[in-house]
Amino acid sequence: LVLVVDFGAQYAQLIARRVREARVYSEIVPHTMPVEDMLARNPKAIILSGGPSSVYADGAPGIDTAVFTAGVPVFGMCYGFQLMAAGLGGEVAQTGAREYGRTPVTVSEPGTLLEGIPAEHKVWMSHGDSVAQAPAGFTVLASTADTPVAAFEDVARGLAGVQWHPEVLHSEHGQKVLEHFLHQIAGCRQTWTMLNIAEEQIERVREQIGDSGIAICGLSGGVDSAVAAAIVQRAIGDRLHCVFVDHGLLREGEAEQVERDFVAATGVNLHVYDARETFLAALAGVTDPEEKRKIIGREFIRAFEAAEATVLGEAAEQGDKVGFLVQGTLYPDVVESGGGAGTSNIKSHHNVGGLPEDLEFALVEPLRTLFKDEVRLVGEQLGLPAEMVWRQPFPGPGLGIRIIGEVTADRLDILRRADAIARQELTRAGLDRDIWQMPVVLLADVRSVGVQGDGRTYGHPVVIRPVTSEDAMTADWARLPYEVMERISTRITNEVEEINRVTLDITSKPPGTIEWE
Ligand code: XMP
Repeated sequence: LVLVVDFGAQYAQLIARRVREARVYSEIVPHTMPVEDMLARNPKAIILSGGPSSVYADGAPGIDTAVFTAGVPVFGMCYGFQLMAAGLGGEVAQTGAREYGRTPVTVSEPGTLLEGIPAEHKVWMSHGDSVAQAPAGFTVLASTADTPVAAFEDVARGLAGVQWHPEVLHSEHGQKVLEHFLHQIAGCRQTWTMLNIAEEQIERVREQIGDSGIAICGLSGGVDSAVAAAIVQRAIGDRLHCVFVDHGLLREGEAEQVERDFVAATGVNLHVYDARETFLAALAGVTDPEEKRKIIGREFIRAFEAAEATVLGEAAEQGDKVGFLVQGTLYPDVVESGGGAGTSNIKSHHNVGGLPEDLEFALVEPLRTLFKDEVRLVGEQLGLPAEMVWRQPFPGPGLGIRIIGEVTADRLDILRRADAIARQELTRAGLDRDIWQMPVVLLADVRSVGVQGDGRTYGHPVVIRPVTSEDAMTADWARLPYEVMERISTRITNEVEEINRVTLDITSKPPGTIEWE
């Protein structure tokens, strides 16, 4: 275990991921955690992240210098580097020479940390203060035009640091620097592999649920719930009951992926609840986006609870007690909601006859420690269908918010066919992993005149909305190659009779959102 101490910048999660890419397990802790609590977790190393402030600023986050003398290797990056320098008697100066962005660095003495890294390379900097003097016992390894001490190490004590951000891709050789610290200086063993992750989680779930517990899991068609279910299935077999509510708002092939391919790959005990008619009836006549979302959310909970009640009822008849609810919570959600020990209980309200008003479930969250890319790799390891594992984000309300206007069965059918073509062509062009998402939106209340063959047509336009993004908070419209756009346009207008126009959305987010509703 390596602890990444978060000093409040946005870098801690990235550092934790990079540590794991170096095959060493890592977790993030807040800088407010007492050092003795950190040490009590028995870390093999501690990494101090970057941070927003000057170490001299009022109220600047600090760390007890005991962290440097406990015999646990410590690596400081940016702000963490300065804390280490200041904490061990070096000198941090407010030179006013701010370095920001890609900066050339000169390696004067590679030592262990920078071994084999070119003497001149570029790294990502973002700092105001600089280390003017390294603490006693440290070897200075590198400098920049404005920073005499840009990297140092004291291998005997297991301490090292760099002024730059080795975790960002803009820093050349950054991963190598991190690995030198982890593997050579701290002596961490490289045991964090996908196979180990899967096995470890399966074992944990087995312990948590025990020999007789019963668990229930809702599948959405997305990767998180699928991988969570696959792990729990490996742990407890048929004592896991998966529920899939088919609300009819998924894209072509997605329901089949769950019902057929996922079941074939994992052998889960699946209960399909066909709620297509109910959803359509509830959405009839509704055009307002917020109202659609509310209806879909409400109907989903109702349908899931009804399905759950059936499953619970059947289990109860056999004398089993369902005590666990499986959820696909990921590590970023855990970090962002302030950590927590993972023992929370939630209440599920049941209004369905024959069951207690409130049932208490213990949560099973086998992905709580994982990042999204790790979840995908574990999914691959467990043999899940590739389309599921690598699926791009898709909103919970599904195609319901990609039909502008009332949602009807016919319109869903039209959109599904157009969307399938667009996705096929994106895949064919090998762009699935470059494009964050590509919603296809049906302007169902709009009609436009066209000409096809000898005849005049009066069909619907669709909008394709390919975007690139890191996290969906901001996005840019993707510059798809012309040939790809051409194929999408030609095929959709040829193969989907009701559509006679394909348009491209070239709005970034902000101001546009990714979805149209
Ligand atoms: P917007 O449209 O706000 O979307 O730019 C940002 C990201 O969130 C997805 N999205 C949703 N996901 N339930 C979800 O699970 C929703 O109601 C929902 N609305 C939008 C959207 O696809 C994009 O990835």
